Amino acid sequence: MLFPPDFRWGTATAAFQVEGNNTNSDWWAWETQPGTILNGHRSGLASNWWANAEADLDAAAEMGTNAHRLSLEWSRIEPEPSVFDEAALERYRAILQGMVDRGIEPMVTLHHFSNPLWLVEKGDFNSEIVLDYFGRYVGKVVDRLGDLVSKWITINEPMVYLFMRYLDGTFPPPQRPGWYGLREAFGRLLACHARAYHIIKEAYPAAEVGIAKNMPIFEAKPGSGIVGRWWAGRIDWLFNRAWMGAMVNGRLPPPFGRSTIPHLANSFDFVGINYYTRFYTKLGLGFDWIEREWPAGTVVSDGNYGEIYPYGLYRVIKSALPYNKPIYITENGLPDAADKLRPAFILDHLRQVWQAICFCFPVMGYYHWSLVDNFEWDRGWTQRFGLISLDPDTQARTWRPSAHLYKEICHSYSISSDMAATYAPEMLPVMFPGEAPAPVHGW
Ligand code: FCB
Repeated sequence: MLFPPDFRWGTATAAFQVEGNNTNSDWWAWETQPGTILNGHRSGLASNWWANAEADLDAAAEMGTNAHRLSLEWSRIEPEPSVFDEAALERYRAILQGMVDRGIEPMVTLHHFSNPLWLVEKGDFNSEIVLDYFGRYVGKVVDRLGDLVSKWITINEPMVYLFMRYLDGTFPPPQRPGWYGLREAFGRLLACHARAYHIIKEAYPAAEVGIAKNMPIFEAKPGSGIVGRWWAGRIDWLFNRAWMGAMVNGRLPPPFGRSTIPHLANSFDFVGINYYTRFYTKLGLGFDWIEREWPAGTVVSDGNYGEIYPYGLYRVIKSALPYNKPIYITENGLPDAADKLRPAFILDHLRQVWQAICFCFPVMGYYHWSLVDNFEWDRGWTQRFGLISLDPDTQARTWRPSAHLYKEICHSYSISSDMAATYAPEMLPVMFPGEAPAPVHGW
C-alpha cells in the first residue's frame, strides 16, 4: 500500500508532557495537589526535552520521519505578565532549527492544555482579558520563531480542554465554573483561535494554520433504538461539529450563544484530526454521556483507555470532507506499554488513511502520538504512548518493536505484507488476504 511522495510522516508531542520542570505552568501547581494525578505521579524532568530534545530528534530522523508536531509552553516564554524570557525563545529556536536541520518539518501548537499560572490567576478563559494576552504571546512567538515554522496549530483539542477543565475536574484549576463557564470559554477559545490565525497569516501568508480537533466516533450501543441513535447524533454534534461549524461560518451556535465572532469565519487552512477511539453514548441527565464498559470481545488498550477501532479513522476523515480543506491526522496512538497491540494498531490505522487517499480524500500527513513516552496529564506515567519507551527515573530509552515498524513505513512510504508478517502476523489475512497462508480445513 503506497503513499504519495509528499506525504508527511510524523510524530507528535506536547511541551508540558516532554520538556520537564515547567514550574510556571498551571499543571505544575496542579500536580502538587493530592489526588490530581493517578498514583501521585509528577512530571519532573518529563522526557527531558528542555535539556535534550535533540536526543529524541535524532531518533525521529533515524526513524525516517519528515515531520514532527510539538507545542510551545506559554509559561516558559512569558513566565510573568509582560516579561518575555529571551533565553526560552532562543531554546525553542534551537529545537526548531534542529528539526529543520534533520529534515523534520515542525508543526507548532500554540496552546496545548497548559497555561501560565499568572494567567489563571487573572481569570484566563473565564475573562475577556485572555484575548489580548494570547494575541500578544502569539505575536511574540511568530516574530521570533515564524521563519522556521510553516504549519501552526492554534488550539489543541478545544472541546477536550473545555470538558476536562469546566465539567470533569481532571484538569486545573480546582475552581469549576460548570456549564455556564464552559459556554463562555467556548467563544473565547474561538476568538483566541481567530486572533492567532490572523496574526500568523499577516506575518507569513504562506503558513498553514489550523486546529487539532479530537474527533472520536460517538455511537449508540447496538440495539439502542431510535432515541439512542438520535442522542448519539446530538453528542457528536456538540463535541465534534459545533466547534468546526463555528470556524466555518464565524458564528457561535446554540447552546454556546448566537453572536458572530469577528474574523472567525473560514479561519483555518487545514483540518487537524486527533483520532483515538469510539465511544458508546448513554442517555442521562448531567454530563455522564459515555459508557465505560465495552461489548464482549472488544479490544481495549491499557488502563481501559479505549476501544481499538481503526475503521473509525476512515469514518472521521470522511466526515471532514465537507470542510473542503487538506486534512492532517495530527494525533493517533494508544497506551500500550508492552507494545502488544501497537504494531497492528499502526498498520490498521494507516491502512484506513491509505484507503482514504486511494479515494482522493486530501489526507496530507499522519503524526503518531507519540515519539517517546511522556507525562500523560492526569494519568501520569501510567499510560505509555511512545514508539520509544522511556524510564523517567534514568531517562533510558528503548525502541519498541513499533518504532522499528514505523521506521520501515516512513523509509519506504508504504505498508507491506512483509511488515505485517514480521510485526503483526494476525493482520496478514485481514490486510493482505492474497498473501496469507491458505486456510487449513478441518476435514
Ligand atoms: C490527547 C492529547 C495529548 C495526549 C493524548 C494521549 O487528547 O492532545 O496531549 O494526552 O491525548
